[in-house]
Amino acid sequence: MPVLVENDAAWAGALSAGLPAGTQVVTSIDQLDNWLANQDAEYAVVLGPNTDLADCTALAERVVRTYPTIGIVLLRHDLTSDVFQAAMRVGIPAVIAADDIAGMTAAVERSRQMWEAVRGPVPEGGRDGKVISVVSPKGGVGKTTIAVNLAVALSGSGAARVCVVDLDLAFGDVAITLQLIPEHTIIEAIEAEEHLDFSLLETLLTRHTNCFILAAPTHPEGKDRISPALIRRVLKILRQHFDFVVVDSSPAFDDQVFEALEETDECIIVATLDVPTVKNVKIALETLDSLNLVVGRRHLLLNRADDEVGLTAANVESLLKMPVSTALPSASAVANATNHGKPIVLSRPDHPVSKALVLLAQDLARTTMNGSATSRAATPIETDQKRRSFGRLRK
Ligand SMILES: Nc1ncnc2c1ncn2[C@@H]1O[C@H](COP(=O)(O)OP(=O)(O)O)[C@@H](O)[C@H]1O
Ligand SMILES: [Mg+2]
Repeated sequence: MPVLVENDAAWAGALSAGLPAGTQVVTSIDQLDNWLANQDAEYAVVLGPNTDLADCTALAERVVRTYPTIGIVLLRHDLTSDVFQAAMRVGIPAVIAADDIAGMTAAVERSRQMWEAVRGPVPEGGRDGKVISVVSPKGGVGKTTIAVNLAVALSGSGAARVCVVDLDLAFGDVAITLQLIPEHTIIEAIEAEEHLDFSLLETLLTRHTNCFILAAPTHPEGKDRISPALIRRVLKILRQHFDFVVVDSSPAFDDQVFEALEETDECIIVATLDVPTVKNVKIALETLDSLNLVVGRRHLLLNRADDEVGLTAANVESLLKMPVSTALPSASAVANATNHGKPIVLSRPDHPVSKALVLLAQDLARTTMNGSATSRAATPIETDQKRRSFGRLRK
C-alpha cells in the first residue's frame, strides 16, 4: 500500500481520493519512519505538497538506502528547477504538481508495478494482519478489558493499524469501554454477506484515536441473525487491511466464537482464581483440543492473579496443564479506567497492569505463526458434533 505524508487535512483528503483504499495517511516524517519500520508491503511514499522540502529529501535518502523497493512520489505546489534538482540529487523518481491528481495516481501505480516485479504480488488490501482472539468460558473475567487494552498497546501510537471486533454479539461492550457511540454495527453486514468487501465493511467501523472497532449489535436479538460464515468473512477481509485484528468474545463458546477461532492466529485464554472458572476453562481447552483449534497458539492469562482466595497460579497451571503466560493483579485503577472510558494502558501507562499488557502485546506482535491457522484433523461433521456437545456442557 502507499503511505501519504501530509499535515494539511484538506489536502490529505483531496489526495487520498486519488490513492488506493487502505492508503495510510500520516502527518509527519517522524510518523512515517515509525510506520515504515513496522510494515512490509508498502510500495510507495507520497510526500504531500505541504511537507518541508529539506525533510523530504532527507527522508528520500533514507528510504532509498533502507527500503529500495519503495517508490517515492514528491508533490509540490511550485515545480521550480530547485525542486527538480533537489529531487534528482537524492534519486526521487517522480516530481508532480500538487493538483495533478491523475499524475500522482499514475506514479503510485508505477511504484506498485516496480515493487511487484521485484517482490511478487502485493497482498490484497496490502496486509496479512494477525488475528488475536481473547476468550474465556466465563463472563466478568476481564476479556473486554484485555482486548481493548491489547488493541491500544498493539497500535503503538499509530505505528500499526488495529481493529477490534466485538463478538460478544448479544451484550458487547467494546464501544462503551472506549466511550464511543457507534453509528453502525456488524448487523449491517448481514445484507451484504455474499458480496461483503472492505469498502462496505470500512463504512461500518467506528474510529477511536488508537484503533477502529466493529461494534456488536445494539440489541441482543441481533446475535442470532449473524452467521458463523459472516464472522469468518469479516475477519478474513479485516486482516487484509489491518496489522492486527483483536477479537473480543462472549462467555459462551458458541459457533460464532468457534468460527472466529478458525481464523485466529493467537488466542488469549482468560482465567481467574476461582474453581468454577478454572473448571470451565479446562473443559474449553479440551474442546479446543478435540477440534484441533489454535493448537500451539494459546496463551493463558490469569487475571486478578494476586487475589488471596485459596487457589494459586501454580494450582491453575497444574490443573490446566499449561503455563500462565501473563498474570495481571487486581487493581481498582483497572475498573476506574473502564468507568472513565479510557483504557489503563493510555491513562496509567506506568501501572503494573499496563506494563504487563504492553509486554504481552509486544510478544504477540513478535510471534510468528507456527503452522496453518486452519489445519484441522476433525471432519466438518465431527466438528459440528463436538461444538454442539460443548454447547450442552455449557448450559
Ligand atoms: N485486573 C483487574 N482488576 C480490577 N478490575 C478488573 C480487572 N480486570 C477487569 N476488571 C473489571 O472487571 C469488570 C469486568 O471486566 P470485563 O473486561 O468487562 O470482563 P468480561 O469482558 O470478561 O465480561 C470491569 O469492570 C473491569 O474494569
Ligand atoms: Mg466483555
